[in-house]
Amino acid sequence: MSNKTFTMIKPDAVGNGHTGAILDQIIKGGFKIKAMKYLALSKEKAGEFYEVHKERPFYGELVDFMSSGPIVAAILEKDNAVEDFRKLIGATDPAKAEKGTIRNLFAESIGANAIHGSDSDENAAIESSFFFSSLEKF
Ligand code: RTP
Ligand code: MG
Repeated sequence: MSNKTFTMIKPDAVGNGHTGAILDQIIKGGFKIKAMKYLALSKEKAGEFYEVHKERPFYGELVDFMSSGPIVAAILEKDNAVEDFRKLIGATDPAKAEKGTIRNLFAESIGANAIHGSDSDENAAIESSFFFSSLEKF
């Protein structure tokens, strides 16, 4: 899975009408869209996705936010996908995100930060399977 990563355009960015501009940045960044879905997470599903952060103080807020509106989930392909995509999206806190990165351009705050990117090949595979069946991954 080293040439693939998983992303979600988060409810703030979808709600603010940035979906098209963000997909454009992703494609111009050299990523191929291998699978894509427009959907809304229930609180339960958002909680399950972010289970690793269960003990963190922001977990409740994160789950509420991620289930507050529709998202776009996608599997992306590029050499060195995980690392290159984290560079393209920028730091978690948009105030610290490098100029021109997706979070610098479109994120509102550390919570409502526009986009998710997997942090390892292992998590990219786990997260892709959370949203896409084997029939939808090719
Ligand atoms: P992501 O998983 O969404 O790509 O973000 P990340 O790796 O850059 O950051 P991570 O540490 O995995 O945190 C997951 C998401 O939780 C929210 N968060 N809020 N209020 C806070 O201090 C805080 N810290 C993190 C963000 O939405 C972050 O993307
Ligand atoms: Mg993360």
